[in-house]
Amino acid sequence: MKRHRSNLEEIRGRIRRSLSIISRYRGYLAKGASAITYPIVIRSAKGCRVWDLDGNEYLDFISSASIANIGHANEEVVNAVREQMRKLIHYIGSYFLTEPMLRLAEKLSHITPGNFKKKAIFGLSGSEAVDMAIKCVRSTRKRKALISFIGSFHGTTCGATAITGATSLMHKGLETLLPGVYFSNFPDCFRCPFDQEYPQCGLLCFEQLEALLDYVVDPGDVAAIFTEPIQGHAGVIIPPKEFMQKLSQLCNRNGIALVLDEIQTGMGRTGKMFACEHFGVIPDVIVLGKALGGGFSISAVVGKADLLDSWETDAEMPSLAAHALSSIAALTTIDVIIEEKLCEAAMRKGEYMLNRLREMMEEYPQIGDVRGLGLMIGVDIVRPGTKDPDARSAHKVCWRSWELGLITMPIGKWNNVLRIQPPLNISKEDIDRGLNILEQAFRDLKDNRIPDVSMESWLA
Ligand SMILES: Cc1ncc(COP(=O)(O)O)c(C=O)c1O
Repeated sequence: MKRHRSNLEEIRGRIRRSLSIISRYRGYLAKGASAITYPIVIRSAKGCRVWDLDGNEYLDFISSASIANIGHANEEVVNAVREQMRKLIHYIGSYFLTEPMLRLAEKLSHITPGNFKKKAIFGLSGSEAVDMAIKCVRSTRKRKALISFIGSFHGTTCGATAITGATSLMHKGLETLLPGVYFSNFPDCFRCPFDQEYPQCGLLCFEQLEALLDYVVDPGDVAAIFTEPIQGHAGVIIPPKEFMQKLSQLCNRNGIALVLDEIQTGMGRTGKMFACEHFGVIPDVIVLGKALGGGFSISAVVGKADLLDSWETDAEMPSLAAHALSSIAALTTIDVIIEEKLCEAAMRKGEYMLNRLREMMEEYPQIGDVRGLGLMIGVDIVRPGTKDPDARSAHKVCWRSWELGLITMPIGKWNNVLRIQPPLNISKEDIDRGLNILEQAFRDLKDNRIPDVSMESWLA
């Protein structure tokens, strides 16, 4: 592939079919439904690779937002689903049981942290499972207040949006989605909201949470604290282990349920099956989605049996949840992660990538921070010599990487963090190929060789 692209006419020719389809049909899609970063239309995907309508090939460094942890169209999943499809596609699980659903509930109770009896309930999306978890803890604890964190992302349904602290835009015009939701600061040690350094700070963010419980909401009224163990959408924000442990102790002391949203961090992404294992924290309830279904729509709430069983509800399972095909896909996904030792692989490959990216940080002053666990990595782009987030430069790096055949995306509170989350079974060659492309993009950024290109300018 030729280096130093941005010969705009040449690229335009290369993505002609994608451009024409986007121009023709994008007007039918609600504006909020899509935040397209590059003008490509995905035609197919296999393993770590994605092809657009014009046949251009890209290396997928985001795994379709951490959905394709075991690679796109994993052969084991395809075969298992094909076989299941011949027997039963789906029967509504809240009326009659199906074997794949029961086997999945059993498997999830075994693989999730905590040596106690657990029960599961299923949904179709991560957001829906978060809503279920909210209803479950409120109903069983007979308490209404919920605590969440600034920067968190829990999804798009009403309940999940209500406890999301990612951006006020998600709340705009919606008034109060759920009463009794309180937010506290999450420890962001690179850009500490209190301008402190850990550990000298004495975990001020935790003290703030305690103050919330002292002065604003009585702990006895709090049903649950919801958190991601690592904030993904906020830009891969990894809390100190001590913070997570104190949080767990605070919940235990006060009879508050600790609900961990592992929708993005789960299924091997961080080098353990679940990220909470890094912190030595066992949640009362864990929420799963995204990669669980190997590309099929399934989510789950798994938690302490007494908690889930004391939820007085009727048929709390959407018609298509624990779909037979998705359940089989999820069972196979879990087997693939365990049998192919993908957690260990994610840890090893993640360390290699972090090291290489940190070497790049020495060379390119626009890289302010490189952080991650396993294959959940964020590269924080800043104005050189400062910690000021630089979304424009992050966008340029993504754009140039895409031109050179690599898919990555800006995320983070300021859209300035490159999301690096390749499939866990990516090869060493593909890791190097992707990192070489990224390095080229950083070089071009430093040398001011990337024009300001926007999606709109392509469609003009
Ligand atoms: C941590 C977290 N929770 C919840 C969700 C929502 O999941 P879904 O998009 O499947 O509704 C996401 C999606 O990105 C997520 O990253």
